[in-house]
Amino acid sequence: MAEQVKPLVAVIMGSKSDWEVMRAASDTLQDFGVPHESRVLSAHRTPDLAAEFASGAEARGLEVIIAGAGGAAHLAGVTAAYTTLPVLGVPMESPSLKGLDSLLSTVQMPGGVPVGTLAIGKAGAKNAALLAIAILANHRPDLRQKLHQFREEQKKKVMNETLP
Ligand code: RP5
Repeated sequence: MAEQVKPLVAVIMGSKSDWEVMRAASDTLQDFGVPHESRVLSAHRTPDLAAEFASGAEARGLEVIIAGAGGAAHLAGVTAAYTTLPVLGVPMESPSLKGLDSLLSTVQMPGGVPVGTLAIGKAGAKNAALLAIAILANHRPDLRQKLHQFREEQKKKVMNETLP
């Protein structure tokens, strides 16, 4: 039986309805070949599970947690309360307040328990993955090299763009 690779990054989200956005984080990690897991965990619908997950994350070998949530978005903050691993929060664009509620709920952590908050929506999910990779790359030269390559390709794409 093939040995399962242990995930280094967890992508968690408050609801299945967040997946369409949060898959941008998962896809980016996939592109860089970073072993990761994705799952739904809610700070208010499954609070015990969320606490159990965050408390055990370090012992399971995870190094970064990406948490996406919308509305009164406390998943990233609650996760950060139970672990000293870096937690990156992605505010979902909510139907009522366009994600401003999610952004403020995620970003405004009182001093002492940090959450690194990214942009609202897909850009935030993608950047959360890139930031997670940058954190992992501090001790993984192969990932640092891939990040350099990614930036180079991005630059070339912009330089080759033509306007109508
Ligand atoms: C939050 O409530 C989730 O993160 C989601 O963004 C929002 C709405 O969830 P659903 O009602 O679609 O499950 O907990």
